[in-house]
Amino acid sequence: VKGVIFNILEDAVTRAHGAATWDALLDAAGSDGAYSSLGNYPDSEIEALVGAAADALAITPEEVLRWFGTAAIPLLAERYAAFFDVQQGTVGFLESLNGMIHPEVRKLYPGAVCPHFGFGVEPDGTVRMIYRSPRRMCALAEGFIAGAAAHYGEEVALEHPTCMHRGDGACTFRVRTRRAALRCESQAA
Ligand code: HEM
Repeated sequence: VKGVIFNILEDAVTRAHGAATWDALLDAAGSDGAYSSLGNYPDSEIEALVGAAADALAITPEEVLRWFGTAAIPLLAERYAAFFDVQQGTVGFLESLNGMIHPEVRKLYPGAVCPHFGFGVEPDGTVRMIYRSPRRMCALAEGFIAGAAAHYGEEVALEHPTCMHRGDGACTFRVRTRRAALRCESQAA
């Protein structure tokens, strides 16, 4: 895993819980915390940090990854504003992952192994995304999708009908978005 992911994790944990919490996680995971953005670190290191956070909070590693994905989006939107600004909403942003975001990431961070998503649209407009990766970080993807919707001010209904963690060959996400209702609209009637 690229060091930049650890940098963003440190940033997210520090903003939400303070620097002491990050230090405690590093201790629990047996890490010295020296992550350079261009470095490559074994998957086991991110697993150890996520596991330490899960233990500390008494939640599952999947819940930690989902939190991280959601919390990472505002940080990514600061670092990589262009990826967000050129899209009008969540679906366009997600559809730009394969063709724009992750290819750019591979150029910026040689050695990055970013997932490729399958995309389809159902007759009612629901977007279907297929995710396959030996890292099986579907909970991270869920968090990213939720964070992206929040970024664009949209409500999202997200389903995960097939999952590699439940023995399926791939994860499927069904994504439906709509503009978050404005307060004045709900009061109008
Ligand atoms: C500006 C937006 C984004 C940036 C800069 C970004 C960048 C990255 C980077 C650097 C990695 C690590 C690659 C490695 O360590 O080898 C990664 C992995 C990943 N990305 Fe993105 N990403 C973005 C948005 C998203 C979104 C919106 C999703 C999903 C909906 C997503 C899904 C994933 C997943 C699931 C992984 C884990 C690696 C794997 O499955 O093998 N990313 N991304």
